Amino acid sequence: MKSRVVIIGAGGRLGAALMREYRKNFDVTGFNHAQLDLADLDQVREKLNRSEFDILVNTAAFTNVDLCEKESKQAFKINAEAPQALAEVCRDKSAKLIHFSTDYVFDGEKREPYGENDEAHPISVYGESKREGEKLVLQTQDRHLVVRVSWVFGPDRPSFIDDMIMRAGVSEHVDAVSDKFSTPTYTRDIAAMLLPIISRAVVTGVADPGRTAVSERGYNAESGYNGILHFANEGECSWQEYAQHAIDCGREFGLPLKAKTVGALKLSDMKNWVARRPVYSVLSSAKYRALSGVSPRSWRDAVSEYVREFVAVS
Ligand SMILES: NC(=O)c1ccc[n+]([C@@H]2O[C@H](COP(=O)([O-])OP(=O)(O)OC[C@H]3O[C@@H](n4cnc5c(N)ncnc54)[C@H](OP(=O)(O)O)[C@@H]3O)[C@@H](O)[C@H]2O)c1
Repeated sequence: MKSRVVIIGAGGRLGAALMREYRKNFDVTGFNHAQLDLADLDQVREKLNRSEFDILVNTAAFTNVDLCEKESKQAFKINAEAPQALAEVCRDKSAKLIHFSTDYVFDGEKREPYGENDEAHPISVYGESKREGEKLVLQTQDRHLVVRVSWVFGPDRPSFIDDMIMRAGVSEHVDAVSDKFSTPTYTRDIAAMLLPIISRAVVTGVADPGRTAVSERGYNAESGYNGILHFANEGECSWQEYAQHAIDCGREFGLPLKAKTVGALKLSDMKNWVARRPVYSVLSSAKYRALSGVSPRSWRDAVSEYVREFVAVS
């Protein structure tokens, strides 16, 4: 029996990648923004109550960090109230919610990778609204899973890498922030990391909504795949190092780039940023490694593969 998976945010960077990666293994349905607006909670409940699924993956979010400062009510609606509604729908259907969150729930004061037990202390409206969403999801049903990711890139929507390579193609001078650190993480690798969690429902899935014993659906509390889990490629870097590696890869794979070396900017130079951002937000994947026995590859290898397959071909 194939697991029935619904993906919300199917038009976004991560959601579109999960749709593509999971189509072959699962019975997947996606909702993009036009098909399901998380700001309309009645519509969300009504549409999802009519759908049959074992797992709901929410990748949709109000992700514009600066705009969240100005539109905080909307940020909390999309990033906190809507995930709570999703969690309730899933609870009532005996389905599992996998809800994506962010490294921006941390204040960035630490200088070693954040674990799941580190206290979240957001410093922006975006971070606060995402943290509130995490809490509401897990309060609603403790078998749900919150997955925090950082600096996400992939072929379905341009991100920092694409911007840096595009700039390096037209200018000899490219700069990036050198005093802010995290880990670039590839959507393809997030999909691979999530796979064993979703697959559990395929192995042991028994559709029996009349019973509440979650073990029968294959993702019980003992599995450990509930609560909060950090997903990141291995290693850490500044945006300057990230940009430098992307440009080095572009050159290696034959892109005609004018810029060779990425210059350093300070976080304090970013005068047009409205929201505060954590200086250090590396996520430790140690818990995931212990649960799955699988180690994510390094961010450098992931960026290299992405540039070779998706950027250097155009
Ligand atoms: N990108 C990163 O670097 C990063 C870092 C840490 C955590 N995350 C988290 O990872 C998850 C996936 O992010 P992503 O990179 O895929 O972001 P993304 O490309 O911005 O995708 C977010 C999706 O949410 C949709 N959306 C926005 N408002 C909506 C609404 N009211 N109703 C329904 N859909 C709505 C967007 O649709 P439209 O574009 O059509 O509005 C978009 O398809 C999010 O939870 C994000 O917070 C991302």
